[in-house]
Formats: sequence, structure tokens, C-alpha cells
Amino acid sequence: MSDNVILVGFMGAGKSSVGRLLARRLGRCFVETDDMITAHEGRSIPEIFAERGEAHFRALEEETVRLLGLKSRDVIATGGGLPCRDGRPDRLRAMGTVVWLQGEFDAVYERAQRAGARPMLAGRKREEIEALYRAREPYYRQADLTVDTTGINPDQVVSKLLLLLRDRRASTLSPLGRGQGEGA
Ligand code: S3P
Repeated sequence: MSDNVILVGFMGAGKSSVGRLLARRLGRCFVETDDMITAHEGRSIPEIFAERGEAHFRALEEETVRLLGLKSRDVIATGGGLPCRDGRPDRLRAMGTVVWLQGEFDAVYERAQRAGARPMLAGRKREEIEALYRAREPYYRQADLTVDTTGINPDQVVSKLLLLLRDRRASTLSPLGRGQGEGA
């Protein structure tokens, strides 16, 4: 595995702010799949949706997942829909530790509405967005770790996550592996 930390979750879950803080705390690079796509296309996500449609955007996400395979030891924030394809959670887990930033729908929805232009929200009723959220949960649930973000700020999410990552690392290292690591 490439030892990345890969954040997944619905729009408004806090992937960007948590990812940036986490990367700083770990001394790692921070990458956003949406930024990879906009840099490659030379236009914004709303422009891509408006000019080429969602299907084209999803094809760009597929290409981005392929490129993520080249990354190592990065903190990666994924777009809210990126993990939600059959087989995707497995592909992401093969690249590192996948973390679901799980929030209550109401809080996530409110944050998603407030921040930035999000084409998936445009023209959709709240019930439709909630249906999308529920449909995506089974994909997010396949993450290695879940952090409940309800009622806590990004700093607190990062602190929780660092503990979970440390525990996971301790439990996945065999005694032999740990001994070798310390001696090297
Ligand atoms: C999308 C989420 C967005 C972005 C695009 C589609 C989605 O990312 O990838 O607008 O389908 O949920 P954020 O989760 O960062 O808002």
C-alpha cells in the first residue's frame, strides 16, 4: 500500500479543512481530487458540469483515481461522489487508509449549502439531496476508519483522527515489524 490517508464523505463533511490541517500535523502533502481535475481541465468544477455534464465529470474522476495510484504518503481529500462507484472503495483502500468523515445529514447539508458553488446541489430539493446522501452511505461505510464529526470543529476532528490512525498503525504492525522498524 502507498500509505496515503484518503478522506471520503458527503459534500460539506469538512474533507478540505480537515485534510489541510491533518497534512500539516503529519508533515505530509495535501491533495484534493477536485483540484487535480480543475488543473487538468483548466476550468472550474461548475464550468465542467455546465459545459460537459456530470457524466464527463465522472469520467474525469475515474482518470483521477488512476493517477492517485502514483501518490504515496499524501493526505488526499476526495470529491463527495468519487468513492461512490462499485469497486471504488476497494481501489481506494489499496492506496492507503480510507477515512469517512461522517456527519449528521442536517449539519452536512447546511455546511454544503453555505460553502462554494456545488453543481450537485443546484436545482435539487432538500429531500433529493438527502436521498443522495443515503444512497452514498454504503460506499462511505466501506472506509477503514470513521470519524463522527457531529458537533466538533476541524481541529477536534483531526485530533480524533490522529488517535485512530495511531491505534490502527499499532494494531497492523506485527511485533516483528515493529521491532525491525525501531532498530532500523
Ligand atoms: C460532488 C462533490 C464535490 C465535487 C463535485 C461533485 C458530488 O466535491 O467533486 O461538485 O458528487 O458529491 P465536495 O465533496 O468537495 O463538495
